Amino acid sequence: MKKIAVLGHGVVGSGVCELFYEKREEFSKKLGEEICLKYILVRRDYPNAAYQELFTRNFDDILNDDEVAVVAEVMGGIEPAYSYVKSLLEKGKSVVTSNKQLVAEKGAELLKLAKEHNVNFMFEGSVAGGVPVIRPMHRCLSANKIEKVCGILNGTTNFILTKMITDGLSFKEALTQAQELGYAERDPSADVEGLDACRKICILASLAFGKHVYPDQVECEGITAITKEDVAYAEAWGGVIKLVGTAVPMPNGKIDVLVAPRFVAKDNLLAHVNDVFNAVQVSCDYVEDLMFYGKGAGKQVTASAVGGDILDCLSAKGTVDSLTWEDSSESVVYDPFKSVFRMYFRFKYDEKEQLDEIREVFSPITELHRKDQPENEIAFVTAFDSASEFASKINVMNTHGVKLLGGIRLL
Ligand code: HSE
Repeated sequence: MKKIAVLGHGVVGSGVCELFYEKREEFSKKLGEEICLKYILVRRDYPNAAYQELFTRNFDDILNDDEVAVVAEVMGGIEPAYSYVKSLLEKGKSVVTSNKQLVAEKGAELLKLAKEHNVNFMFEGSVAGGVPVIRPMHRCLSANKIEKVCGILNGTTNFILTKMITDGLSFKEALTQAQELGYAERDPSADVEGLDACRKICILASLAFGKHVYPDQVECEGITAITKEDVAYAEAWGGVIKLVGTAVPMPNGKIDVLVAPRFVAKDNLLAHVNDVFNAVQVSCDYVEDLMFYGKGAGKQVTASAVGGDILDCLSAKGTVDSLTWEDSSESVVYDPFKSVFRMYFRFKYDEKEQLDEIREVFSPITELHRKDQPENEIAFVTAFDSASEFASKINVMNTHGVKLLGGIRLL
């Protein structure tokens, strides 16, 4: 008999418990051995749950029970999740998690610990919810060199941007709708400021390029400054605005990692990923371009990923060696000022001379136009240049009294 435990009984935790409660027989048949959910660690009562007898408030019940082989950590946050996961791995139990903060900040260390104890630390549910991307990357693509990873990794912001694009809502109006529908948290800052997407691209970059990329080393910009006017100019350009995470290895050995709103051209599949859906594009030397698409959040979709990891851990013979990356003592992230891209800008000016200067400083540009565009507003897309060059050009404009109203990178 194989026994498992779940730490946490929130949205994802209850989904995992229900999944194993409902499908116990099916899973046992698949494994060729009976499987049983033995404990659920909770911090409060859940009087309506069908499996009251499994609840415990004492983590040591799980840690010290030698029958428990695999534990799902679905509490979220760093503590106490980190301490729990460490002690479980040290006890020789495999751990699976959907906790992106834990994986993004402690992944290298926990993978190493799992290897030292010949068990597994798996986290398919930490990126893009139910969409399988971690396992395909380290297993199915192992014959490839990954050249780029990029994706829409946050469902809440994608919902907000979709509403701004299709229904003409402002950021605030769309956020309120996302909160009413239960997508956005009451404190939506980790989503709208890009931190959630940042943690996810860090996990993907670490896995793809073999070195731990820490979120605090990555430039991360959210969507709070995006306006309806920017949306209209993106449309005039032939695209939409999406919050995109990108990771590209550079010739100097560093990884160019960024989370930011981007103008995405309509011929890019990412432009058509709407509402709360997520998509991850992986470009490789042999298989070329792939895209993984589906629901990135929710009780059942995340339980699907966590459940798959539990079954994988139960049938694994020792550590799965392909799921790993090294720690990095110094930053492996490429200097963001050296990053090269094209930009969209929107400026407000007072004098004709200022308009001439904008056109000259940013030349060559392609000007964009929208309905109800004020006379003293100019919007355009630039040619390729480095972030530091763009920063000094904006500085020049500032000193000449020209007001920057918006700036978004092109993907
Ligand atoms: N807040 C996240 C999102 C949940 O909106 O995508 C899944 O990580």
